Amino acid sequence: MRYLLILLLAFVPKLNIDTQLDYCVEQATQTAASIPAAQPNLPRNVLNSKATWNYVGYKDWTSGFWPGTLWYVYEYTKDPKWKAKADSFSQELTPLAYQKAIDHDLGFQMYCSFGNGYRLTGNPEYKKILLATADTLATLFNPEVGTILSWPRPVPNMEWPQHNTIMDNMINLELLFWASKNGGSKRLYDIAVSHATTTMKNHFRPDYTSYHVVVYDRETGKKIKGVTHQGYADNSMWARGQSWAIYGYTMVYRETKDPTFLDFAQKVSDVYLGRLPKDLIPYWDFNAPDIPNAPRDASAAAITASALLELSTLMKDKTKAATYRTRAEQMLETLSSSQYQSRNVNSAFLLHSTGHKPNNSEVDASINYADYYYIEALLRLKKVRVGKRVQAPL
Ligand code: GLY
Repeated sequence: MRYLLILLLAFVPKLNIDTQLDYCVEQATQTAASIPAAQPNLPRNVLNSKATWNYVGYKDWTSGFWPGTLWYVYEYTKDPKWKAKADSFSQELTPLAYQKAIDHDLGFQMYCSFGNGYRLTGNPEYKKILLATADTLATLFNPEVGTILSWPRPVPNMEWPQHNTIMDNMINLELLFWASKNGGSKRLYDIAVSHATTTMKNHFRPDYTSYHVVVYDRETGKKIKGVTHQGYADNSMWARGQSWAIYGYTMVYRETKDPTFLDFAQKVSDVYLGRLPKDLIPYWDFNAPDIPNAPRDASAAAITASALLELSTLMKDKTKAATYRTRAEQMLETLSSSQYQSRNVNSAFLLHSTGHKPNNSEVDASINYADYYYIEALLRLKKVRVGKRVQAPL
């Protein structure tokens, strides 16, 4: 009897997802109540030892995460009041669809906001905006190189006007895949596949750790160098960069069904998982010289947890899939603990993310994208537990 009980307990999921989602709704309620009437009004971060949000306008690369979080709150609660808020904050970003591309972040900005909005409502206005954004993003594609230009401006160490591509750019491909399957040009699909393939070739070292940035000759397409921007060193594994790779290649496999990408998603996941500290929340850079005293990056953990949950549903190797799912659940358990949830400290969901350590900005802070991927991962886990896909093909 005792053994039966132990066996049963071992199979009872530890994390109560609805408790954590209810917590997110409470925190979002507080954040929504504190938002200023005038713009900029998109919550971006709460800095370490502060309690109030700093706000940004629609051009900021993180502008889509607050509306996206609101869409997820709506998905969970089904309460029309959240739909109205999500709609209103998403609408602020509309000009991005029609202006000259400022940079590659259009996918983050518009797919997290309008993309989720369209998925949940089917609003044809959102579809129009998303299709226009995909065309705007495609203007940054360089066919000689085979990737999208991430930062169309001088950035230190990037040899402007040569072509730079950052690992984060993988996430923007989801918008292009969506557009190509929803009335946009087939060329958008080809751009996304070309970007993923070229990045796979040039952005990784033999051990599958990633460079943050690759600089290419914009005329010949030849790789000039791999460097860092937000990581510790050119040859280090910046935690969030690797998380973008895990998330990105999982999504590219979902959209293309090309097994090369599935295999690659596992390779970039395995090197990350193999080098994590015990609690599964990475230091901001896996090679930070002051580990174990280096700041953590909860955002990388949230992104990875969300990605691994999806990866676990796409794999034929059920044993390995179960390992990824277990790791993701463990990451979410740690993130849901008193050590990582903001609770009474501020109204974000999570503490302890690191935005740009070399610039000393957003170090050990609450940041909107950590919250976005945390709630996304919780919603995904809820689906995975009842055997549903986390995301239908676009
Ligand atoms: N895309 C910028 C970052 O991950 O910080």
